[in-house]
This record gives sequence, structure tokens and C-alpha cells, in this order.
Amino acid sequence: MKILIINGPNLNLLGLREPGIYGNNTLADLEKLIAETCREKQIQVECFQSNHEGAIVDKIQAAYGQFDGIVINPAAYTHTSVAILDALKAVSLPAVEVHLSDVDHREEFRRHSFVSSACIATIKGKHFAGYLEAIDLLEKHLAQK
Ligand code: DQA
Repeated sequence: MKILIINGPNLNLLGLREPGIYGNNTLADLEKLIAETCREKQIQVECFQSNHEGAIVDKIQAAYGQFDGIVINPAAYTHTSVAILDALKAVSLPAVEVHLSDVDHREEFRRHSFVSSACIATIKGKHFAGYLEAIDLLEKHLAQK
């Protein structure tokens, strides 16, 4: 089993960025936690972060035939990007959407996600644990196939 973790814009600034909302830990901390968890589970994993919508679309397209599933936090593109939704639909890989914060209890504009309809589940407000839950969900989903 091989999974791709995608983090969208400004998540490279975790630790610095609005720590009251996103916490004090960095993207490197998150990627280390994911790598350790996947090693224990014998899952192959690659982590990717970009601030650019097109780069995220390219990465999703390139995942076709290379990965079994995707965990994606599209960050601000969640609320704007039909292109990321279409890319996820195009490759048709099982995907889980993750948000560190509880987007349902923040500004109104964060309540709508374009990508949700291409995902098997959405996990919100569980910080780093949300990514581990997403990996578990993908593992179970792929085991059933
Ligand atoms: C986020 C929530 C988004 O609304 C925001 O634009 C982000 C991060 C989260 O992980 O909570 O950049 O996806």
C-alpha cells in the first residue's frame, strides 16, 4: 500500500502561522509523525506540500497508477478549487480530506468544500491526529477492496 499526503498553501508555515488555530508544531513535525506511523504500519508514504494550485493538480494527476490513495488538506483551495476537485475525480483514487481546524466553526466561507464530493471522508478539527485517522480510514477502505 502506497499513499500520498498532500498539503496545500500556507501549511509550510505551520508553527508560525496562527498558532492559536493551527498549533505550535511545524510541517516537518507532521511529516515526521506521518512517516513514523506509516513505517509501523508498513505503508509506503510520500508527503508533498505546495502553495500552488496547478502544482497540486499536477501531483494528483501523477499519482494515478503510482499510489493507492491520497490524504489531502487542500487548505484555502478547499473553498475555491474546482480544479483540485476535478483532478481527484479524474484519477478516481480513494481520497480523505483533512483539516487541522474545525472549519465548520470558523468563518462562514470555510464551511463549503469543493473537494468533499471527491473524498470518501472528511476529518476536521483533530489537528495532527486527523491525518493519522485519515491514514487508518484509507487502510481499512483499501483492505475491503
Ligand atoms: C485548513 C482550513 C482552511 O480553511 C484554511 O484556509 C487552511 C487550513 C485547516 O487545515 O484547518 O489553510 O485547511
